Amino acid sequence: MAVERVLSGMRPTGNLHLGHYNGVLKNWIKLQHEHECLFFVADWHALTTHYDTPEIIEESVWEMVIDWLAAGVDPANATIFIQSRVPEHAELFTLLSMITPLGWLERVPTYKDQQEKLSSKDLSTYGFLGYPLLQSADILIYKATQVPVGEDQVPHIEFTREIARRFNHIYGKETGFEEKAEAAIKKLGGKKGALYKEMRNAYQQSGDEEALESARALIEEQQGMSMGDKERLLGYLEGGGKMILVEPEYKLMPASKMTGLDGQKMSKSYNNTISLREDLESVAKKIKTMPTDPARVRRTDPGDPAKCPVWQLHEIYSDQTIQDWVQIGCKGASIGCIECKQPVIEAVIKELKPIQERAAQYAEDPTLVKNIVAEGCEKARKLARETMRDVRDAMGLNYT
Ligand code: TRP
Ligand code: SF4
Repeated sequence: MAVERVLSGMRPTGNLHLGHYNGVLKNWIKLQHEHECLFFVADWHALTTHYDTPEIIEESVWEMVIDWLAAGVDPANATIFIQSRVPEHAELFTLLSMITPLGWLERVPTYKDQQEKLSSKDLSTYGFLGYPLLQSADILIYKATQVPVGEDQVPHIEFTREIARRFNHIYGKETGFEEKAEAAIKKLGGKKGALYKEMRNAYQQSGDEEALESARALIEEQQGMSMGDKERLLGYLEGGGKMILVEPEYKLMPASKMTGLDGQKMSKSYNNTISLREDLESVAKKIKTMPTDPARVRRTDPGDPAKCPVWQLHEIYSDQTIQDWVQIGCKGASIGCIECKQPVIEAVIKELKPIQERAAQYAEDPTLVKNIVAEGCEKARKLARETMRDVRDAMGLNYT
């Protein structure tokens, strides 16, 4: 589609660390300059697993927003908001639950995985089962077209696509849809109308995806046309009804598996993180005491960067020259591990220092942070209300 709308959320369950920065935030910061972006704090999602520690959530919400801002998420370029401040998410969640087969939820792989992983907690709750559907509501309520996520979230986006499709299938058939669609084609004008029909035929008869894309672009370009007509034309292209909810695409974040201090994925639950606001001396100490290739018992023993977690940090933080120096120096035992770690320590500190300075400024001015969020919530709510109007309409709930 011509205009992309990007949406993503993060659960407030603790301090953000370098894994979040490299895997998620850097991506968001880039995207905010390329597309319309909405980023939100998924506090209800956090409650599905942390229902017994609400104090952690409450504190983490503001700390997380500060981390986002400090990292460079810019409220002038992205809408920053809190899920629970846009209660329409809950309304859509409820309405979508009416058409969500239980089996679909039970089959989402994260459901059983997480229950097993967090076995100390009772996650056989209604809320936890509904986690993916709440996420669908988050996405569909903004008609988001792109959702940047890590690999573990892909099943949730696929689930969301299925829900959108099912919704459109059940509720997208307004009476007289075909006539209304034909009337909308007339409004395109003779030339464009003919083009639309040609492309629709090409798609419906031979599955020509390019024709589908061009036809969608043509519709998006129509300045004077009403949203309703645009949606009819989009729906008519694929043969279905009016497209009320938009099927989102996921955008896999490439570096979403940053290595932690022990060589496993960086994650709070492995206790191997460097948090964004970690004291810089502690950062240096943590890297200095990182394990290296166990073959390098003595300084004179050659090693292999492929077997060393420090190398994985070099891959993120070092340029080619330094990387070559590490490869040769490690394999030939011409450098020591302490020496090898030094450029990583410097690069991490260089990255964290400005973030921490900005974080301190935001932390000192809670009103500023709250205002940014309040404004974001207001903007998000406006968009959410528009979708809810259509959804209520489609489900027979507009009694006024
Ligand atoms: N489930 C996501 C995670 O754990 C967080 C999330 C909630 C989300 N709602 C979302 C991400 C909507 C993208 C879009 O990372
Ligand atoms: Fe790891 Fe560097 Fe030591 Fe090689 S020299 S084992 S890459 S820390």
